[in-house]
Amino acid sequence: MVERDNWAEWLLETRFGGDPSARRAGLNWLAGVRDRVLDGAAIKDGDVLLDVGAGEGLIAFAALDRVGRSGGVVFSDISSDLLNHAADLLARGGGDVRCSFVQADAQGLEAIDDSTVDVLTTRSVLLYLRDKQRAANAFWRVLRPGGRASLYEPINKVNADARRPGVFRGYALPGNPELADRLTEFFYAPIGTMIDFDERDLIAMFERAGFREIRAELEIRVRRQESKRWDVYLNSSPNPLVPTLGDALDRLFTPPERCAFEDELRPKVEAGDGFTHEADLFLRAVKPE
Ligand SMILES: C[S@@+](CC[C@H](N)C(=O)[O-])C[C@H]1O[C@@H](n2cnc3c(N)ncnc32)[C@H](O)[C@@H]1O
Repeated sequence: MVERDNWAEWLLETRFGGDPSARRAGLNWLAGVRDRVLDGAAIKDGDVLLDVGAGEGLIAFAALDRVGRSGGVVFSDISSDLLNHAADLLARGGGDVRCSFVQADAQGLEAIDDSTVDVLTTRSVLLYLRDKQRAANAFWRVLRPGGRASLYEPINKVNADARRPGVFRGYALPGNPELADRLTEFFYAPIGTMIDFDERDLIAMFERAGFREIRAELEIRVRRQESKRWDVYLNSSPNPLVPTLGDALDRLFTPPERCAFEDELRPKVEAGDGFTHEADLFLRAVKPE
């Protein structure tokens, strides 16, 4: 088995439970997010675009169609495994001299010079950062005057605030409320940076960094869960900071507890008998000329 860091392991495997059809469906939804982030960046022919936390290249690869022959796309990420993965994908497709790969922490982007990019994109990266203001400041620093930043972040505070006792991830479990709460607590404990901000916090950070003409669009959905395959659900984890549900059940519960919990949760997951709260933020901002 190939050893990968937790970012690569999650993006390439456990976010979709290792299931190709769940991956296809997830990437299909993400294609819409990607296009909206790129539309928000108002990319022009010849632009240099920096994608921060590029992962497997969702946004950066698609940006190549928009920057023209003389433009450039910089893939940056903290994870060398993901940068290598994206570089391998590119090489297998014949390579592209317009691409470069830079390992950099979004909280500083020290490897990127001041005022060297026209467009900065990022998707679902700020939520993992302890110092989001430092990242906004770095975004401003690397952009040229007149440069645009365009990003997507989930506002997970919305689903965190919707937590209720005896309900695990939107599935009411009246037969096992204590187990549901123990598991909820376990999954929320390590993810402080993912739920400590909302859209207004991000807007204020971008404003403090020096950005102007900031536009934020927030969509909140409360909806019934989709039905899911139990094996895929067990093998999935909601983010790179926590294990899969199956691993968590092994760690937290005794065998009889696990049985009782699965007996109640499984039919609900398979039937989609639960609710979910989701909030999507698209934000764009301009560095003044
Ligand atoms: C949820 S993934 C999103 C990946 C990609 N933007 C996409 O849309 O598919 C989060 C990404 O942020 C990267 N990341 C995490 N912490 C980072 C940091 N401090 N600086 C830069 N990138 C980071 C991870 O390696 C991972 O690629």
